[in-house]
Amino acid sequence: MSVDLLKQLDGVFADARGAIAGSKTDVELESVEIDLLGRKQGSLTGILKLLSTLDDESKRTVGARANQIKTEIESLLAARRAEIAALSGAGAIDISEPVLPAPEYGALHPITMACEDLSNFFRAKGFLVLDGPELESDFYNFEALNIPADHPARDMQDTFYIKDHPTWVMRTHTSCVQIRAMMKYGAPLAMVAPGRCFRNEATDVRHEHTFFQFEGMVIGENITIQHLKGMLESMAQHLFGVNTKVRLRPKFYPFVEPGMNGEVTCTICGGVGCKLCKGTGWLEIIGCGMIHPEVLRAGGIDPKKYSGFAFGPGLTRMAMLKYGIDDVREFNAGDLNFLQQ
Ligand code: PHE
Repeated sequence: MSVDLLKQLDGVFADARGAIAGSKTDVELESVEIDLLGRKQGSLTGILKLLSTLDDESKRTVGARANQIKTEIESLLAARRAEIAALSGAGAIDISEPVLPAPEYGALHPITMACEDLSNFFRAKGFLVLDGPELESDFYNFEALNIPADHPARDMQDTFYIKDHPTWVMRTHTSCVQIRAMMKYGAPLAMVAPGRCFRNEATDVRHEHTFFQFEGMVIGENITIQHLKGMLESMAQHLFGVNTKVRLRPKFYPFVEPGMNGEVTCTICGGVGCKLCKGTGWLEIIGCGMIHPEVLRAGGIDPKKYSGFAFGPGLTRMAMLKYGIDDVREFNAGDLNFLQQ
């Protein structure tokens, strides 16, 4: 009797191993488990029920073997259940999933990089970094900057006017922020104001209707041209290298007196003369000058007590020189070949 039962146990165990390994789903595995260990009809349970009919000796041997097999079957069931979960459940790697294209990473626009670079340079020197509206009033863009309505200087900066709003213009420069800053903060004052500007221009490699400037202004007691030149020199050297030199030549801007053109030694030839600088060795990059007393007055500042300088390089032009970009139209073209470099 007990020998028969031991054989039966071995048979049950062999079948159990096959059935467990062959189960592919939770449901299949569960029915295998019921067939083996189910309380009513489980094949192993059936053998265990017979134990009570055996003599003491057989009870011990068959009982020990039956319990051992039961434990092994339970651990085989648990292992297979984990395998099935790993293959089909949450967290599974589905190797049939189509491969996604490699992600494309964006990069900062060259204008943004040049703007942040210069803003940080001036912030470190204690300048405020300010903002102003792109849709300006005629007052801030022209009037307060000493450019009255009938003045020929208006022709220098032709812009876009807004239909039905004769006093609104798309700002032609960032100099309007000078007035806004004077009115808001008074003197003494040191600020820069990067921003987008607009002009009614025919476009070519050097001209765009939409471009960026980087206004700067310092107002205080006894501010002189030396301060302006020193400031421009350190800015130019920061941008183009320590050997860069600056020279100032007279130029008319209605809102500065004297007005000047700041030139830097050519960023390509270093001053020898090349195509970029048209053989002169110098590049004109910065309109600048000492703030006109009328402009200080328009901003609510007493020109007898305070003086100041202002400068307004084209941020777009600086980015072109810094990054070697030869066509200004690239900046607004949205061409990925250009932007992805
Ligand atoms: N706003 C002038 C321009 O757009 C540049 C400038 C700024 C000149 C500040 C003098 C002082 O051309």
